[in-house]
Amino acid sequence: MTPADLSARIRNKALLDRIVSADEAAALIKDGMVVGMSGFTKAGDAKAVPVAMAERAKADPFKITLITGASLGHDIDRMLTEAKVLARRMPFQADPTLRKAINRGEVMFIDQHLSETVEHLRSNQLGPIDYAIVEAAAINEDGGLVPTTSIGNSASFAILAKKVIVEINLSQPMGLDGLHDIYIPSKRPTRAPIPLMACDSRVGTPYVPIPPEKIAAIVITNETDSASSVLPSDAETSAIARHLIAFFEREVASGRLDLTLQPLQAGIGSIANSVLQGLADGPFHHLRLYSEVLQDSTFDLFDAGKLSFASASSITLSAPYAERVFGSFEAYKDKLILRPQEISNHPEIIRRLGIIGINTALEFDIYGNVNSTHVDGTMMMNGIGGSGDFARNAYLSIFVTKSLAKNGAISSVVPMVSHVDHTEHDVDILVTECGLADLRELAPRERAALIIENCAHPDYRPQLRDYFERAVARGGHTPHLIEEAFAWHVRRQKTGSMRES
Ligand code: COA
Repeated sequence: MTPADLSARIRNKALLDRIVSADEAAALIKDGMVVGMSGFTKAGDAKAVPVAMAERAKADPFKITLITGASLGHDIDRMLTEAKVLARRMPFQADPTLRKAINRGEVMFIDQHLSETVEHLRSNQLGPIDYAIVEAAAINEDGGLVPTTSIGNSASFAILAKKVIVEINLSQPMGLDGLHDIYIPSKRPTRAPIPLMACDSRVGTPYVPIPPEKIAAIVITNETDSASSVLPSDAETSAIARHLIAFFEREVASGRLDLTLQPLQAGIGSIANSVLQGLADGPFHHLRLYSEVLQDSTFDLFDAGKLSFASASSITLSAPYAERVFGSFEAYKDKLILRPQEISNHPEIIRRLGIIGINTALEFDIYGNVNSTHVDGTMMMNGIGGSGDFARNAYLSIFVTKSLAKNGAISSVVPMVSHVDHTEHDVDILVTECGLADLRELAPRERAALIIENCAHPDYRPQLRDYFERAVARGGHTPHLIEEAFAWHVRRQKTGSMRES
């Protein structure tokens, strides 16, 4: 690397002195500290310092509270878990090793709405942050940080932290400069409204404004983001997409929507990615995304000429898509904005722009309550992520899932969810590969009949009908056999299947 390469990335010459090794930067992190790290759905995470922290902890044990935007790539959560560095972790994770440590009670996991974390920091309900460790594509003359493929909570971490460690990642394209829009809400209760009027509104700065004095160390890295592991569409996810497209077409025919729909949000994971991909086959055009993560499907929609703009907090792509998109980034850049997650997920903006939110459920019940996080009401999967930010405030709150899990041993439609993330009041539409239930303006008894007949797998419908009929015979606004409500989950634990023998 030549000094010229570096001075294009570190534009304040005085800061060149602060370049250190990852080990030296990791040594700044002490036992008991609160650390805010960049990274949102595997994009834009700090890649060298956390690895050095895990290595150091093997000989010099220490524990921290780690706050990020969302999930991290590069097995960082695994390494930090195995090195026993994590005392507390928030607001989201998706790592199998960390998940197990959380479920053993070894790591205290605070599962938070993604829009809320920095509000808690700003109002001193959480923190203070000792060190922010953030990836950047460049540091400007005035110390401003140019983020990379995500913003997440990094801007507020850097602004609120006592000190900042910056990882300059040479593998992140310089073309990212100018993509971001950093808007930081002012103090409450005299906060001004966020002036964001449309998905493509720019209301902030393209860099994170921090003074150069705050930068304690700079580490140079050269490693790409971890590739996303979304699975290709399959028969079930394609069927879910077809049901949703048919529903949107009916909404257009009824005059409630036009063919541009409303701005769309789609959650993480294979199902949500596949559903968005499916929209490329519909009659819709000039679609807009106001979402939190842009997956492969976003760029399929751009390439199909269906999407006019996408706003989010991160770009997380599979390896072939990363090569294609970042290889010709200028073709997409003026149609993209990355924002802090408190803005991409801001309840007031979601309500005002009228977002159609599409998120994935683990299970839902016959009345429309949704569980996105806990297996058998007990074991954490990933976390609520942004699904609650969107579900409560969306123009249409849609949840999708396959009707069966674990080769049919589990019905995703159950009498009563074993954990509630989204109540019946926040859920408008449920979709499985079997069909779609439009719950708007329906009373609980009406909802149950529709959910059972349209969404449950035929193998489980007789069991659900039987439960519902016996519950109705007993009465109530939301009829339940309370002693039997979790019998399906208990049966699976005992016999391996929810099926009645
Ligand atoms: N009970 C137990 N396990 C279930 C289940 C159920 N009712 N339904 C699904 N699963 C399992 C699947 O078998 C699969 O297990 P595996 O990893 O061992 O194969 C796993 O959950 C993931 O399910 P999958 O069908 O592959 O869907 P996905 O990759 O789209 O993920 C969620 C689904 C719900 C886990 C994921 O979307 C999530 O974490 N959501 C919460 C956060 C969120 O909504 N964020 C949106 C904004 S960021």
